[in-house]
Amino acid sequence: MVKAIIVRELGGPEVMKWEDVELEEPKEGEIRVKNTAIGVNFIDVYFRKGVYKAPLPFIPGREAVGVVTAVGPGLTGRKIGDVVAYAGNPMGSYTEEQILPANVVVPVPPSIDHKFAASLMMKGMTAHILVRRCFKVERGHTVLVHAAAGGVGSLLCQWANALGATVIGTVSSKEKAAQATEDGCHYPIIYTKEDFVESVNKITSGKGVNVVYDSVGKDTFKGSLQCLATRGYMVSFGQSSGVPDPVALSDLAPKSLFLTRPTLMHYTTTHDELLEVAGGLCKCCLWSASAVFAINHTYPFVRGGPCSC
Ligand SMILES: NC(=O)c1ccc[n+]([C@@H]2O[C@H](COP(=O)([O-])OP(=O)(O)OC[C@H]3O[C@@H](n4cnc5c(N)ncnc54)[C@H](OP(=O)(O)O)[C@@H]3O)[C@@H](O)[C@H]2O)c1
Repeated sequence: MVKAIIVRELGGPEVMKWEDVELEEPKEGEIRVKNTAIGVNFIDVYFRKGVYKAPLPFIPGREAVGVVTAVGPGLTGRKIGDVVAYAGNPMGSYTEEQILPANVVVPVPPSIDHKFAASLMMKGMTAHILVRRCFKVERGHTVLVHAAAGGVGSLLCQWANALGATVIGTVSSKEKAAQATEDGCHYPIIYTKEDFVESVNKITSGKGVNVVYDSVGKDTFKGSLQCLATRGYMVSFGQSSGVPDPVALSDLAPKSLFLTRPTLMHYTTTHDELLEVAGGLCKCCLWSASAVFAINHTYPFVRGGPCSC
């Protein structure tokens, strides 16, 4: 038996219950991992509230770092004691120990702090596919990042800035604007005080931006389309404020816009793809320079334990 957080009904944080669950032995192609740090992501909220559907009951969570405690029969390439990380499928990381398909994990270099790796994997890989695959950011581009001080947003600001782009970001407060600026956002827009479409128009002298990275969804989607330059890319990768309204194909025609709705899992469908996308974190030094990614909160997994927030 291990301790895990279980969701038996949809709702707020109160529906997460602390229970004993049975843990099986790993089967062929699987490993058992004792989690040392678990990443918390917005997607966990979507499943808990029912925005994304999963059969009840379920153990939430899609990101963790841990130590391999058992390997399935005949498995090679992984051994007991390996430190590994995963982000994405399967759901169920809010647990002390879990069974994982061996091909979803990547090795964590010994120099990397487990909390850092668990907080970076999902957000870092997402940022990677957004700036390198969905739209290839290059020097001279102007990009708009919504929720610029958020988990993925702060990485997008840093990465796009490092690639030579001009970065515009929306945030809700002065404090978050300062954070975004520190992360390389050249023009933070406090959307609670100014209309972001007007501000982008001013900043770009009416030209618009080459790409919008929109994770906010319902509240921003239409405005984001207005911010795009001719042949601009609308990358809608989340819906923190709700699912955007349906968009008519004809809405893209006036500026010949591109629209994509990417999901990280579809860019890591094979183990080679996964290693490449995770490896991108090393290439841009995210794995090795913990200063670039601030962990704002940590929570104890053990109920009643001390919190180091
Ligand atoms: N497609 C993929 O594969 C993929 C992978 C990972 C994450 N995502 C998505 O990326 C987004 C960011 O994830 P994250 O974990 O890094 O979260 P996050 O950005 O740290 O948190 C969400 C932020 O969105 C902003 N926001 C604006 N309107 C909001 C509203 N009505 N409710 C809540 N937040 C609102 C808030 O920033 P302000 O206070 O500045 O407004 C908030 O801090 C999420 O939508 C997530 O689902 C997608």
